[in-house]
Amino acid sequence: MSNQAEGCDESDYVSLSAHLKEQAIDSDLARLIQLVADKSKVVQRAFVTHACLSDTDNIYGEKQMELDKYADQVFLDAMEKSALVKAFASEEQDDVLGIRKAKGEFGVTIDPLDGSSLIEANLAVGTIIGFFNEGNVMEKGKLMDASLIVLYGPITSLVYTAKKGVHMFVLNNKGEFELRKENIKIPTGKTYAMGGLRKDWTPQHTAFVENLEKEGYKNRFSGSFSADLQQILVNGGVFSYPALVNKPTGKLRLVFEGNPIALLAKQAGGLGTDGIRDLHEIEPEGLNHRVPIYVGGKKEIELAGKFLR
Ligand code: AHG
Ligand code: MN
Ligand code: MN
Repeated sequence: MSNQAEGCDESDYVSLSAHLKEQAIDSDLARLIQLVADKSKVVQRAFVTHACLSDTDNIYGEKQMELDKYADQVFLDAMEKSALVKAFASEEQDDVLGIRKAKGEFGVTIDPLDGSSLIEANLAVGTIIGFFNEGNVMEKGKLMDASLIVLYGPITSLVYTAKKGVHMFVLNNKGEFELRKENIKIPTGKTYAMGGLRKDWTPQHTAFVENLEKEGYKNRFSGSFSADLQQILVNGGVFSYPALVNKPTGKLRLVFEGNPIALLAKQAGGLGTDGIRDLHEIEPEGLNHRVPIYVGGKKEIELAGKFLR
């Protein structure tokens, strides 16, 4: 009898490329997902070499890490070379980049490094990507066809959905992404991760959190949305970066962060809202469109709705 824990036997595994084939994912989309997986290994290696602050800000006035810019360039080059992507919207660029030579029609949104202020402390940070098969990156999230997170943590993992479930892969010692968990469903669990200062929360949000605390939910906010979402996919619970009294739209961006992550949560049986509305029903008004965000298990997000309505 084997006493191997799940995912600990490396002898035989399903690779990401095999899985994409098995799932009959559109071949161009599969190529893009595979390209991101390949390039994430380049980014992962750069954590040692590019871990300092750059001397520039992005258009949102946030300090850029060298790695923010490096990761952006690595993924942009790959998407350009693929000739499948005609529009590339990055948190680190001022505008949507149109790729004129592209033969394909894909639109890509990217937060090249999410949680990059944690790099120095060596905490988990991620890459968040959304794919639109056709056309524009400024569509409602319900038109997004696939999304993924690469998480650079104690191990590097990749979680993707192409609207056929949510699947997690880990970068193994052979340098390949191998299947760790298929068809992930957010389990019942008692973790919550809430951004912003408690003194700046609205009374409605505070009441929601107090209710969770009464039910025994534990605070597990990491400062990286991608890591916090992955925690919820594995352990259950709820993430929120809420409206703040002095910042009613919160901090996180619909296009780069909210929509791709909500797609993963929804495909895993959960929900993603601004407290009241499905994030995927909100028309992006610009790249900088910020929204309060509630993602996680259905039960928790429905409960948030009751407090926030
Ligand atoms: P980014 O590094 O892409 O700017 O994103 C950071 C985001 C998100 O990952 C996290 O949940 C949140 O900002 C943390 O904000 P606070 O520093 O206000 O906690
Ligand atoms: Mn981010
Ligand atoms: Mn970022």
